[in-house]
Amino acid sequence: GHIRDFLHELPKCEHHVHLEGTLGPDLLFPLAERNCISFPNGFPTSVEELEKRYKKFSDLQDFLNHYYIGMSVLIKEQDFFDLAYSYFEKAEKDGLWHSEVFFDPQGHVERGIPIEIVINGFKKACEKAEKELGITTKLIMCLLRHLPSEDGLLTIKSVNTYYEKGWIHGLGLDSSEKPFPPELFENCYSFLKKNFPNIQLTAHAGEEGGPSYVSNSLDLLKVTRIDHGINSIKDEKLMERLANEKILLSICPLSNVKLQVVENVGQLPIAEFIKYGVSFSINSDDPAYFGGYILDNYIAVHESFGFDLETWCLIARNSINGSWCDEKRKLEML
Ligand code: ADE
Ligand code: ZN
Repeated sequence: GHIRDFLHELPKCEHHVHLEGTLGPDLLFPLAERNCISFPNGFPTSVEELEKRYKKFSDLQDFLNHYYIGMSVLIKEQDFFDLAYSYFEKAEKDGLWHSEVFFDPQGHVERGIPIEIVINGFKKACEKAEKELGITTKLIMCLLRHLPSEDGLLTIKSVNTYYEKGWIHGLGLDSSEKPFPPELFENCYSFLKKNFPNIQLTAHAGEEGGPSYVSNSLDLLKVTRIDHGINSIKDEKLMERLANEKILLSICPLSNVKLQVVENVGQLPIAEFIKYGVSFSINSDDPAYFGGYILDNYIAVHESFGFDLETWCLIARNSINGSWCDEKRKLEML
């Protein structure tokens, strides 16, 4: 209908998508074959079986277990390139203008894949997407919070040249949230910020964890963005702070439903965010696993909230203004 066309045409920015989370059954099985990778016993063996398994996850950890098995098929630079470029093609069809993409270097290095293979593949896909698809892109490296912070610090040091070259634009923190609070990674964040004062910082917080995960990410990690952040609604003072400090929440509606953080999109505190003046963007997180890319997430929000055009324009503007692209690109999109 015409609202779908409107949401398609709206200049959209994505701030929360894990490249490894764009690995769907359609690419997973061919890559497994290409690289002679076999899966653990009990892992689905066909596209249909795997799609059925991805219908629902019991929680974040249940999903992550599949996510880490999935990424084991990524071996060569070409695999990383193919993965990222096929995401950019899908996103471009959805009417995406600007994309800030996460990747998990530790998930590859711990399997023996050299870091330069990972980064070269992703970087080449970003360059081709800019040139051929007209999407602007930023790469954001994430640390896996279930690994020790010493490992995180070594990872940061191992990509120093890529930060120097400007190939990596920011730092994030992902994986199992609740047993691994943000304060564990204070040293990693402060080390990177000391060496690269202009680096952008974000962290997953308040997805399954409570509002203290959000405030501690702001206070101790000095992030200027929060990935998810939906549990901020449980703390009114925090909501006021997010609005005052213009912190962007990168929310992921279909992800929250699939990981049973909420029962349905209508339960998300999106209307409250607008009421408090808290900025947010709408994102796909791990679209191959959660059954929808960026436009599906916009449509799901519209189906539950039925926002008027003015509200949609406000959401799009906040999403552009919260992006980590340069001012010139923002002006093109606004
Ligand atoms: N890694 C990939 N997707 C994630 C999510 N939604 N939360 C935490 N870690 C992730
Ligand atoms: Zn995420």
